[in-house]
Amino acid sequence: MTVILSIETSCDETACALLQEGRRLLASVVASQMEIHARYGGVFPEVASRQHVLSIYPVVQQTLQQASLTLQEVDAIAVTRGPGLAGSLVVGVNAAKGISLASGKPLVAVNHLEGHIYSAWLHEAAEQNPAPAPQFPLLALLVSGGHTELNLMHDHLQYQRLGATLDDAAGEAFDKVARLLHLPYPGGPAIEQAAAQGNPAAYPFPRAWLEGSYNFSFSGLKTAVLREVRRQEAANQPLPVQDLAASFQAAVVEVLLTKTLQAARTYGVQNIVIGGGVSANRALRAAFLAQKDYTVHIPPLKYCTDNAAMIASAGFYRFQQGHIAELDFDVLPTWTLSS
Ligand code: KG4
Ligand code: ZN
Repeated sequence: MTVILSIETSCDETACALLQEGRRLLASVVASQMEIHARYGGVFPEVASRQHVLSIYPVVQQTLQQASLTLQEVDAIAVTRGPGLAGSLVVGVNAAKGISLASGKPLVAVNHLEGHIYSAWLHEAAEQNPAPAPQFPLLALLVSGGHTELNLMHDHLQYQRLGATLDDAAGEAFDKVARLLHLPYPGGPAIEQAAAQGNPAAYPFPRAWLEGSYNFSFSGLKTAVLREVRRQEAANQPLPVQDLAASFQAAVVEVLLTKTLQAARTYGVQNIVIGGGVSANRALRAAFLAQKDYTVHIPPLKYCTDNAAMIASAGFYRFQQGHIAELDFDVLPTWTLSS
């Protein structure tokens, strides 16, 4: 039984997890800095790395305690090498190197984006009958704050990028539109909450289909919301925040779903995996689960946004394939998934 201890510090969450056989979660701890950054309306990089320095060792200790394990019982250490904020990544990578050196356990470097995809493999230790693991070939839709891309995977750790956003990432669009609607940071959950009381058909916002491609574009949609907000404000109308949020969300969900299903048909794929912060969105989850033609794997809610459990899962499959990192590797703040 292979046990991976993982560390994730790519953005504003300091996280550590312990995972058995790539799927079974023994412990997962996330120290969130969200309240600190909410004051700035977004992540403040220098503050984030300082917080990681303060939190990293207590978080690792807490994770081991939660699972009643010692470092000696761990088989390998997995850590996020990128993409992310350089000053934040460095803290996790240095901690992982230190732990690896002190314990003699091998180190595995993981791409944060592949972590988001592998969050769909996770299940809690207590779960008696976990859902079967996603089957290859599959489509992986990654929708996070910094990235939106659709990948075809023929096997573990093999990513063929079919399309990606040409401008804003889906999560970024949620965050920017939330700001336009005077909703708090982070925007995704705030929009989702407002949208629950709104009419998704109230405003026919544009969908960028970009015919013939699996790329995405959300900046036109964001501008359309801005134009509507300006129009309402110029007319001294109270902003119909709920209808605007619901109509915006419906446009994002429709484009993500339609393009993914189109790709599944074209490539003859039966399994679909969704990951990244936006996969926490209930409207998106419901839309994917409502179609019955494909098997959709969506991570448990708390593993959609940044966490270390997902890094352990991807790390397990890397470890199995012998991807052991030398201790002198550097962080890669702009690392892509498919090379
Ligand atoms: O994956 P993640 O935690 O961090 C990155 O790797 O970027 O994603 C964060 C993004 C933010 O843009 C946030 O607004 C969005 O995910 N998000 C959501 C929801 N929860 C988080 N977007 C829509 N609906 C949600 N419920
Ligand atoms: Zn992320």
